[in-house]
Amino acid sequence: MAKVLYITAHPHDDTQSYSMAVAKAFIDTYKEVNANDEVIHLDLYRENIPHIDVDVFSGWGKLQSGKGFEELSGEEKAKVSRLNELSEQFIAADKYVFVTPLWNFSFPPVMKAYLDSVAVAGKTFKYTAEGPVGLLTDKKALHIQARGGIYSEGPAAGMEMGHRYLTVLMQFFGVPSFEGLFVEGHAAMPDKAQEIKENAIARAKDLAHTF
Ligand SMILES: Cc1cc2nc3c(=O)[nH]c(=O)nc-3n(C[C@H](O)[C@H](O)[C@H](O)COP(=O)(O)O)c2cc1C
Repeated sequence: MAKVLYITAHPHDDTQSYSMAVAKAFIDTYKEVNANDEVIHLDLYRENIPHIDVDVFSGWGKLQSGKGFEELSGEEKAKVSRLNELSEQFIAADKYVFVTPLWNFSFPPVMKAYLDSVAVAGKTFKYTAEGPVGLLTDKKALHIQARGGIYSEGPAAGMEMGHRYLTVLMQFFGVPSFEGLFVEGHAAMPDKAQEIKENAIARAKDLAHTF
């Protein structure tokens, strides 16, 4: 039985969002095909995702200087323990499904805050004499992303930084299998929008059988 973390960074649901519609088709099919797997939905717009801020730095600083957890302030305790909970949940999962729209060439900021919570030395990677080494060598990941223009080829390909960022981070974490499922070009070609969406939904359902 695999544990799947379904991580969505979108304020809307599948009725208003292309990425969420494609992701819903994927995860519903995945659940049908893998009825015994555990799928945990982490809805980043509704979850508490602390930023690494002054409380977090002071909390970490106190712990590093040998102070006990009970010596942290209320804010420090809440944020440090929530960040810890998020990174523990991440490493306990076997598969990740990231769902994001493309906003200004990247993903919404809450996804970056979330990724900051899981990029933890000793958990997702470690430092060695030969440099950093990823620790998530038995995981699998997928990124479902909707983007109004075309980025899989053509002049804008090099401008996309959301999927590219996740690709770099998954490599850094040692995740051996990471793929992208894109629904793209519907804003640039509104007359083809429905066809583009239906095509991506069909690909999502297919992929759900093998992921
Ligand atoms: C704040 C914002 C920024 C956007 N930036 C881009 C962009 O950089 N490139 C692009 O092709 N489309 C951009 N778009 C269009 C979205 O990528 C497109 O609407 C996509 O379908 C969003 O995903 P969704 O349907 O899941 O909401 C942007 C849309 C919004 C709302």
